[in-house]
Amino acid sequence: MTKAFYVTTPIYYVNDAPHIGHAYTTVAGDVLTRWRRQRQESVFYLTGTDEHGTKVERTARENGVEPQVWCDRLVEEAWKPVLQTIDAANDDFLRTTSERHRLGVQKFWQTLQDNGHVYEADFEGPYCVGCEEFKRPGDLVDGKCPIHDRPVEMLHETNYFFRLAQFSDALLEHYERHPQAVEPRSAYNEVVSFIKGGLEDISMSRSSVGWGIPLPWDDKQVVYVWFDALLNYITAIGYGTDAPEFDQIWPADVQLVGKDILRFHAVYWPAMLMAAGLPLPEKVFAHGWLLVGGEKMSKSKLTGISPDQIVDDFGSDAFRYYFLRAIQFGQDGSFSWEDMAARYTAELANGLGNLASRATAMVVRYRGGVLPGPGDYANADLALQELLAACAERADAAMLQLDFSTGILAIKDFVDAVNVYVTEQEPWVLAKDPASAERLDTVLYTICESLRAIAVLYHPVMPKSTAKIWESLGQQAELAEQPVQDVGRWGQLRSGSHVVKGESLFPRLETP
Ligand code: ME8
Ligand code: MG
Repeated sequence: MTKAFYVTTPIYYVNDAPHIGHAYTTVAGDVLTRWRRQRQESVFYLTGTDEHGTKVERTARENGVEPQVWCDRLVEEAWKPVLQTIDAANDDFLRTTSERHRLGVQKFWQTLQDNGHVYEADFEGPYCVGCEEFKRPGDLVDGKCPIHDRPVEMLHETNYFFRLAQFSDALLEHYERHPQAVEPRSAYNEVVSFIKGGLEDISMSRSSVGWGIPLPWDDKQVVYVWFDALLNYITAIGYGTDAPEFDQIWPADVQLVGKDILRFHAVYWPAMLMAAGLPLPEKVFAHGWLLVGGEKMSKSKLTGISPDQIVDDFGSDAFRYYFLRAIQFGQDGSFSWEDMAARYTAELANGLGNLASRATAMVVRYRGGVLPGPGDYANADLALQELLAACAERADAAMLQLDFSTGILAIKDFVDAVNVYVTEQEPWVLAKDPASAERLDTVLYTICESLRAIAVLYHPVMPKSTAKIWESLGQQAELAEQPVQDVGRWGQLRSGSHVVKGESLFPRLETP
């Protein structure tokens, strides 16, 4: 069996409900997953929740409930439902409070302890509960964590340290040899300069925290929440519980993170894996932040917008489309309702939606819903066929590089060209002249065959509306099984297919 292509998102803290920043990462991973599945690759897509640590424990107690009760409630009522809201096709959902995770975490740290990577020492220093991170003096601005804009807490406790410093050279060598292992380039540079600045050993346990996974050799301490959470990527696929599954899936091919947690994923995580003798991920990709009013949208600053708010108005497909189309993946981007509404109307309602309804309506009207076969192709038809092949290639190359906006733009360029073709060929004029019947057949076939290709190409981005297009073209085969590499081969739609006018894919927005 070939190794599965393994894609992960961060596991999110359950101190509050999800906002569109979390949904953004999950949608990106989902589009990559669906794209690769449509290249007939086997893909395993993981997401989940990070439930231990001070932040979650305090939130639970502030709400007057035990942490486990709080986590169960938030996971069931907020974090799992949002996956439905955004139409995520994840294969698994890992909770750090699950038994399989605990077993894997304890096995991992016991292994490192046995191999001399862990020692006991005194820790003293600042800690940001928002980040759940030990800070260095240079990380603070006016004594505060710049990300959470809140004072840090001074910790002093005896706990266990992971010998991080001894991995400096190995990490630098790894990144020198694998420049694609952290992307985009700005993130790679940040990681390399952080390592070159010198690594210090780091606490891997907490003696003053109760809500966590007990150390196997000292049950008075729990694993530091990040050194518990990062292991989700391996415990979910069987580390410590199911070796054959683990070997089938690990290492990860793409680990998506926001740039806020790059250091954990590109410095601590690979060092942990090296210490355990496990292979390193192929790539960590750090995307940018969704900004509100110029600042990172966040739960702690109460600027979070819930995915439901957007999906209720625009639908899940438009949500998925918008964030990957409007923001270059890897850069920050500001969300605004105006921009969302403008693109929805121009690109989805008037662009794709209008094409789909015009195409199918004309086959119904002029040919009684039976797709005609093409006659001889004219230059305009052949040009469209060539454009399709080129756009499909561009889209595929971009999607594989996680350049989602370029990938979507390539498909959109083809949609726009087909709309121009419809306008120029004027099928409604051809329909008036019986002598043009064969030409009308060719034009109708060309439009519908183009729509077929658009449905296949856009399916990973907009699974619901493309399925409706597919159905209105009378197609029975599974849309998700249509290979993207083959999408440009002209003539796949069979003449005689039963075409029906589909419902409106992107209804007009009600003006407020
Ligand atoms: O950091 N813009 O969880 P978290 C873009 N539990 N993406 C955003 C975002 C924004 N404004 N806000 C959040 C944690 N995200 C840890 C991770 S992994 C082993 C443990 C996304 O709930 C982005 O992916 O704070 C970011 O990295 C993640 O949510 C942080 O979620
Ligand atoms: Mg956070």
